[in-house]
Amino acid sequence: MNSTRRAKMSAKIILIIAASIAVISSICVSSSDPGLLQDFCVADFTSNVFVNGFPCKDPLLVTSDDFFYSGIDQPRSTDNQLGSNITIVGVNRIRGLNTLGIIIARIDYAPGGLNPPHYHPRASEVFTVIEGNLFAGFITTNSDIGNTLYAKKLQKGDIFVFPQGLIHFQFNIGSKRAVATAAFGSQSPGLMTVPNAVFGSNPPVPAVILAKAFQLNTTTIEWLQQQNWVKNFNY
Ligand SMILES: *[C@@H]1O[C@H](CO)[C@@H](O)[C@H](O)[C@H]1NC(C)=O
Ligand SMILES: *[C@@H]1O[C@H](CO)[C@@H](O)[C@H](O)[C@H]1NC(C)=O
Repeated sequence: MNSTRRAKMSAKIILIIAASIAVISSICVSSSDPGLLQDFCVADFTSNVFVNGFPCKDPLLVTSDDFFYSGIDQPRSTDNQLGSNITIVGVNRIRGLNTLGIIIARIDYAPGGLNPPHYHPRASEVFTVIEGNLFAGFITTNSDIGNTLYAKKLQKGDIFVFPQGLIHFQFNIGSKRAVATAAFGSQSPGLMTVPNAVFGSNPPVPAVILAKAFQLNTTTIEWLQQQNWVKNFNY
């Protein structure tokens, strides 16, 4: 290798390193919703324009009601096989939440009710118990500390945090109904319910794949795939 070629090579390597750093730092910067460029951007659901989020309503037509929702105190029906019901209060219910990078939810649990293992790809969650007794926890990724479960028994007034993208759950361990709120650091946290996604996908994942992954036989997997994987949430 002559010296010009060597110089060109090292310039290339420096460029690659610089590009990698730029990519990594931009990932860090964009790990929450995009920053605001205006006071608010009340969602206009009638617009045909496609943007990240929803287009803004004409500010002259915005009213106080665009920032308002009433009824979060109303108990929701938990009459489903999971015994839980998530009412997501996002842009669908409060249009003024558009672009603000936050939403909230109310969760009702029957005795024995479960919000099954799930994760939010785009947000961390602050979980507050309003009523009742829950067992809640999250599991870390396949990292140095392995798949560690961090979990606690929670009661009225307790707060627990679920870090972004980690699988978590809440289970009503009390004899009475329980109620909680969940606040998210994204307008669109995303919701991936693990059993529903794995066993209830459309079309189904080939049973041989899930049998191997879960150390079960294909008969058991096919049975699981025939079950009704209820959606316990509404927007
Ligand atoms: C959640 O509660 C609402 C209001 O009570 C009800 O209309 C809805 O069907 C319930 N969802 C589930 C999954 O039970
Ligand atoms: C599949 O596994 C279940 C549960 O372990 C067992 O009861 C059943 O006999 C198995 N079926 C076959 C075909 O191996």
